[in-house]
Amino acid sequence: METDLKWVLNELPPSDDPYLSIMSQDNIRKVISFHRSFPQYSVTPLAKLKKMAGYLGIKGLYVKDESYRFGLNAFKVLGGSFAIARYVAKQINKDVSEVPYNVLTSKELRETFGQATFFTATDGNHGRGVAWAANQLGQKAVVRMPKGSTQTRLENIRKENAEVTIENCNYDECVRMAAAQAADTPHGVMVQDTAWDGYEEIPSWIMQGYGTLSLEADRQLLAEGCDRPTHVFVQAGVGSLAGSVVGYFANRYPDNPPVMVVVEASAADCIYRSAAKGTGEIVNVGGDLDTIMAGLACGEVNTIAWTILRNHASAFVSCPDWMSAKGTRMYGVPLAGDPTVISGESGSVTMGLLASILTYSRYADLKEALKLDENSEVLLISTEGNTDPTRFREVVWDGLYGIHKRRDQE
Ligand SMILES: Cc1ncc(COP(=O)(O)O)c(C=O)c1O
Repeated sequence: METDLKWVLNELPPSDDPYLSIMSQDNIRKVISFHRSFPQYSVTPLAKLKKMAGYLGIKGLYVKDESYRFGLNAFKVLGGSFAIARYVAKQINKDVSEVPYNVLTSKELRETFGQATFFTATDGNHGRGVAWAANQLGQKAVVRMPKGSTQTRLENIRKENAEVTIENCNYDECVRMAAAQAADTPHGVMVQDTAWDGYEEIPSWIMQGYGTLSLEADRQLLAEGCDRPTHVFVQAGVGSLAGSVVGYFANRYPDNPPVMVVVEASAADCIYRSAAKGTGEIVNVGGDLDTIMAGLACGEVNTIAWTILRNHASAFVSCPDWMSAKGTRMYGVPLAGDPTVISGESGSVTMGLLASILTYSRYADLKEALKLDENSEVLLISTEGNTDPTRFREVVWDGLYGIHKRRDQE
């Protein structure tokens, strides 16, 4: 188990970049119009941690709080819902703008489209989003979860009327299992939040779906008087979210993009390792992928996201579990005057990382490499709330995953 972070600046040779345009401003405006049609839609808060920014020595710190998303405690539903809508629209020869929520859930549409079964594999949040969207639309969902998934996460998916199981294999193997089962089922459709050679369309829609959160954050930053974040830190499991966020900001600020940092769990740091290899070749990570950051426990990068990241991300960081726990505690016990953010293990790691970079002298080289200073305005995304409430309390109340720091190492 790694106890310290590893990082590498992006020095990869540039490559073809055919997927950047999926995150164009025009495309993402269409996505947000679709999400706005849901009765559950509201803009999630952008928490301004003014006191924390001062404490850490930066100009501004903003946190997009996705625990409020559609009552599902995580951002992932943005992707599954949009991909399912685009799939349905395509099947009935319509544009997604013609199938807002009230059309998608109508009796007429069900009669035209018929009954599909949406298959997926998940560490929890994506599967819950797909199951929720399928349920809203009167469709079926089948969800496979990897070994080590908690019963709470499974029950949250079962509540959405999905067939769900925990399998004796890791996440990437569950993806292959669900894909094989979808192929064997009449009108079975694989809705996976990762791409591989030959499976690109649905994952590209999922990445577009996540664009709603970047567009909202962008507008909220402007309203707060921040013209452009200087830095964006984003978590990565398979890298779909990271590809979406990095792609969004690369399109939005083509001439002066923010410094964009991709953050992984050290037990599943396939993107960091691919970047560290330096050639552009992808490096996978296998085995149990044992980390508290369940949403980041994926060992094979999304091939579409990879092309965006290798061309537009600034740096790749691999983080130990204590950094996530530190972030959860910092968000949960804010400095006086700052709002509280309830952030689970995969949501909080960027906060723990940022604070570590800015306060521990042993990371001074990374601070300098990322040009983090008193002029920096940083955007973080708390991608989930306490999706595993038991683990959340163990971290916050019982101090689990303490940093074991030695003063002489600071
Ligand atoms: C809460 C949370 N944050 C971040 C991620 C990472 O997203 P991706 O797998 O698209 O890289 C996930 C993935 O499930 C997640 O559930």
